[in-house]
Amino acid sequence: MAVAASARAAGKAGDAKTGGKADKAAAFPKDFLWGVATAAYQVEGAANEDGRGASVWDTFCRKKGAVFEGNSGETACDHYHRFKDDVALMKTLGVKSYRFSVSWTRVLPNGVGAVNGKGLDFYSRLLDELGKAGITPMCTVFHWDYPEALYKRGGWLNRDSADWFAEYAGLLADKFSDRVKLWVTQNEPQCFIGLGHLDGVHAPGDKLKFGDYLLAGHNGMRAHAKAVQAMRAHAKDPKATKIGYVLAAQITQPASDKPEDVEAARAAIFAVNGRHEWNNAWWTDPVVLGKYPEDGVAEYGKDMPKFKPSDLDEMKQPIDFLGLNIYKADTYRRGGDGKPEHLPIPDGYPRAGSDWQTITPASLYWGPRFFYDRYKLPLSITENGLAVRDQVFLDGKVHDPQRIDFMHRYLSELSRAIKDGVPVGSYYAWSLLDNFEWADGYKQRFGLVYVDYQTQKRVPKDSFDWYRKVIASNGKMLAEKTAVPVTKVTP
Ligand code: NOJ
Repeated sequence: MAVAASARAAGKAGDAKTGGKADKAAAFPKDFLWGVATAAYQVEGAANEDGRGASVWDTFCRKKGAVFEGNSGETACDHYHRFKDDVALMKTLGVKSYRFSVSWTRVLPNGVGAVNGKGLDFYSRLLDELGKAGITPMCTVFHWDYPEALYKRGGWLNRDSADWFAEYAGLLADKFSDRVKLWVTQNEPQCFIGLGHLDGVHAPGDKLKFGDYLLAGHNGMRAHAKAVQAMRAHAKDPKATKIGYVLAAQITQPASDKPEDVEAARAAIFAVNGRHEWNNAWWTDPVVLGKYPEDGVAEYGKDMPKFKPSDLDEMKQPIDFLGLNIYKADTYRRGGDGKPEHLPIPDGYPRAGSDWQTITPASLYWGPRFFYDRYKLPLSITENGLAVRDQVFLDGKVHDPQRIDFMHRYLSELSRAIKDGVPVGSYYAWSLLDNFEWADGYKQRFGLVYVDYQTQKRVPKDSFDWYRKVIASNGKMLAEKTAVPVTKVTP
């Protein structure tokens, strides 16, 4: 399996200019998992069907002004009814793996307690369909759609939330670990805790005091760890079960290849400064290293949550890989005072449809490299993609050269990281389908497949066909000359 193979390659990281087990021309290992990703609330729809309980996102979407044009995930891509067509699309694409998430309230309408058989049945049928198509599932236990019933009991602020989450994760392992070997406990704690509980721009829309936000984060990480334990206890084949944790990876890149700039970018990527959620170490050190980063503890001072010292030991449960969702990088160099200096984005610099994303391909080189050097865990690129204001052209097709160029540049950088010995076992394009982009509603289209939300018609975009060829060549195609030279885009 790719993750395990990467772990072996990891041992050679120091001298692995040849890329360990990688095929030299392609750089990608033979068992590399090329994939696509989605998440339950963003694609499934069927929000009120077959006994699904309410999640905080159902409630948040009804709040005036919370989501672009009042959009919601009530119907989304109707994947709940069309999953067979969507798996057929994946088969045509040739992906080896599909990363999806389970809707917590579809299987446990109240978050804990009574199990909804119809909900379990949906995922069981999805897994069988993937099995028939020869596609390896990667199942994310939690991708933001928190049960409303548990939120009313205090949500992540309640210390019991860790046990609630473990009950849910254990149930999934019990029911699905015969077919799922690759698991992710949680997706992007920065977002479901930070955007949801500090900034209030995602569900549940809270703007907690900083100390309470830190407490919610603390319980979230405890929940991850308890879920790891529960899943290992319920796994049908514990040895084959690989469990990861996914970050909204905040990447830095050096302004030049000079060692002092590389070290400045490395220091910046793991620094915790500022009273906001946008850092890596706060969310990863406790889970992997069993401690909070010292700079953060010093900065947050009296706002630090009070917790039992044993929490930190419990939070550090062995995991098998780290998942990095990588979209962009910020640029650093060594400043005059010897400290990392952040370089501003030049005027007019290339950007995605989503304002927050600059086109910075080297993020897929430096991100994996810095993360591997610090945490020494095999890596998966669990998301990477580009929002484009796509449309169906007069010829009935969806031409998206920007996305092709984006993926070409980013994947070339990933291949460079693998050649330099960074153990990356899989890459998941975000996303298979255009889908509900949270507070941005249906404004942003990230899919390789265009979705007409009125008819639910799927139109594979040009990038779908391009990615199909990349997969078929195991990445060798990336080395081919293109009309547009693939140069580094670095501010
Ligand atoms: C990360 C999130 O996991 C996913 O849900 C979201 O749609 C993409 N980023 C794009 O913003």
